[in-house]
Amino acid sequence: MAALRRYEILDTAPEPAFDDIVALASRLCGVPIALVVLIDETRAWMKAGVGIPLSAIPRDLAFCKDTIRQRAMLVHEDLSGDPRFSDNPLVAGPLGVRFYAGAPLVTNEGFAIGTLCVLDSQPHTLTEVQRLALSVLRDQVMAQIELRQQLTQALSLSEELEGRVLDRTRALYEENMRRCAAEGELRALSLRLLSIQEEERTRLAREVHDNLGQELTALSMSLHRLTRLTAQTPDCLDVVASMEQTIQETIESVRRIARELRPAALDDLGLVSAIRCELKRVADRADLRATLCAQEGIDAIPREHATALYRIFQEALTNIVRHADARHVEVLLRKEDRALDMTIRDDGIGVDPEVAKHSTSLGLIGIRERAHQLGGVMSLMPHPDGGTLLRVTLPTTQLREGTECLAS
Ligand SMILES: Nc1ncnc2c1ncn2[C@@H]1O[C@H](COP(=O)(O)OP(=O)(O)OP(=O)(O)O)[C@@H](O)[C@H]1O
Ligand SMILES: [Mg+2]
Repeated sequence: MAALRRYEILDTAPEPAFDDIVALASRLCGVPIALVVLIDETRAWMKAGVGIPLSAIPRDLAFCKDTIRQRAMLVHEDLSGDPRFSDNPLVAGPLGVRFYAGAPLVTNEGFAIGTLCVLDSQPHTLTEVQRLALSVLRDQVMAQIELRQQLTQALSLSEELEGRVLDRTRALYEENMRRCAAEGELRALSLRLLSIQEEERTRLAREVHDNLGQELTALSMSLHRLTRLTAQTPDCLDVVASMEQTIQETIESVRRIARELRPAALDDLGLVSAIRCELKRVADRADLRATLCAQEGIDAIPREHATALYRIFQEALTNIVRHADARHVEVLLRKEDRALDMTIRDDGIGVDPEVAKHSTSLGLIGIRERAHQLGGVMSLMPHPDGGTLLRVTLPTTQLREGTECLAS
């Protein structure tokens, strides 16, 4: 029973492969009825049949149960003369079966699960060839049953595989979505931190410039008044002069610190002016020739874009002074199709591509982060004609046409 159940064939719909075999069996044996019968605990169930309207009969009535018990072909040439079957409804009833020949269907493991049988309402004998044909067709039925099972197994295996692939794809997709969301949150947080940092720098720059600057100026004026009130000995005048010089230097330092914290030009005059001022200041100090070429309308960009580009420019310029040993630096600001593009090129020793790609120092990481946070990209590479080229591209909205070229 377990072997039969494994085939999952009981109570399934008719199939042409089995229908063809019973049709052939009936023709070859010269009888009107041929059946593929499978036997479970209570029934003889017909998977295929010709010449008979039944689909199942009680197991006890079926001649096939004897066939599977003896595991060899069973032939009753004339059932009417046999007292064992005289009250079997198949024999005594309207079907009036007289002839039965059945070949057992035996599985690979040796379990007999049913028969291929032929019946007639007339007594009959089978020739050797007909017996052989019945036996060959029985093998075909068994082969079909095995094939059918393998196909079912293959199908369910492929379904299971498909299911697993689907589950894994879904899991990967969800994992990816979670990672993207986490990355997005991290980026937003980092952007927020940067903007807070910039706000804080702006506030500090103002504090330093306004308060410290004014207090130092007041100190200088008080010093002046003091010289008028006290005895003007040469020593005293020397001390006052030196104090005044210190105060002036401190005022200069305060201005520089305030400018570095947040260049006033960036807020007041825009990105191009801020870059031009800083470029000129650094180029003069480092004995560099500097060129700035800026497309008109570049100033009309959001504050965070201007801040990001300015800070990137500052770090790139510091790197040129510190590492490049360059004579000339060229800064190009332009808009491309819905993107802002800044390139900074020097004619120095050229950056090592490995360092440019894998550097873990904060300068380049900061440049990359600032570009990424605005959805942009950066690249740093040696220029084919010598020196180094840094390029940053930020996606942005439409800008005005026209190009303004400036040189410091
Ligand atoms: N214009 C350049 N020419 C040559 N080498 C460069 C240039 N810019 C960067 N580099 C190389 O890339 C390295 C990484 O630069 P990065 O700004 O990240 O670090 P850093 O300047 O050494 O330190 P910091 O973190 O203080 O900025 C530098 O140490 C330098 O070797
Ligand atoms: Mg650096």
